[in-house]
Amino acid sequence: MRIAAVSDIHVRPDGSDEDLISGIHDRAVELSPDVFVIAGDISDMLSTLSETLSKLRIPSIPNLFVPGNHDVWFEEDQGIGSLDKYSKGIGETCKENGFVYLPDEPHLSGNLAFVGSLGWSDYSFRREELSIPEEAYEQKQFRGAVWNDFFNIDWTWSDKEAAALFNQKLEYDLGALTDDVRHVVYVSHHLPFKELTLYKDKLPWDFFSAYMGSVETGRILKDDGRVILTISGHSHIRNVVSIEGITAITVPIGYGRPPDKDMSELADKSVAGIEINSGSVKLTEFVEGDICADMPYVF
Ligand SMILES: [Fe+2]
Ligand SMILES: [Fe+2]
Repeated sequence: MRIAAVSDIHVRPDGSDEDLISGIHDRAVELSPDVFVIAGDISDMLSTLSETLSKLRIPSIPNLFVPGNHDVWFEEDQGIGSLDKYSKGIGETCKENGFVYLPDEPHLSGNLAFVGSLGWSDYSFRREELSIPEEAYEQKQFRGAVWNDFFNIDWTWSDKEAAALFNQKLEYDLGALTDDVRHVVYVSHHLPFKELTLYKDKLPWDFFSAYMGSVETGRILKDDGRVILTISGHSHIRNVVSIEGITAITVPIGYGRPPDKDMSELADKSVAGIEINSGSVKLTEFVEGDICADMPYVF
């Protein structure tokens, strides 16, 4: 089983990422995967998400998607809320473009299951030694730095409630798998393991790290016993760690673009290649770190 995976493309809606999108598609095809996985943060706009998925889809293999926090940002002008997007709009968009929306249904391939979630943060990745009060995390603001989900997510749950809901759904999805499933790949946008997070001993970076994921998600995955691989996004630093027999990776691009507008190198670096053989996981193509380092931000 070969998997190609990428996340956090953060597509510019004005068409200037056309080459990047086609480059990612071509690179993924080149890896001749059996499954193509996208772990969220394509766009704040459902219309851009739809266009992008239609261009990324690899015909004749399963294409799997989980949304990122940006994908569920509400669109006031379209009258679409975050919950509308998560529970209906993105699922429909995936279906229209030949993608499996993993939050609705795990994908089975023989005795291997792909289970997926947006995931969320409950601040359990925060650095206690910073002694930042809980209210600052809830308000998503600290010393003038703002975590933008505060202004763009309009469901009524608190972060802790949202994380608990997604964690409960994960337990449900794992519990509902049939007995013949021997191995599980978990695909999420938020990080399931704190160990994937890069702390920099500086602010506001380490404040924002609190929004990366939930420790409880990782506990659920470890306790299940069948999970061999997790593929996530959200953190824009690509990382790989091994935790109790689980290979955990992040596969983001991020906000940077090459100044000369030649997207080929960025596209090639962005797609991870993973091979699963009888339950053992091997990364065949994987670039670690920030692949947008030193590039100008376009958002
Ligand atoms: Fe992102
Ligand atoms: Fe994200």
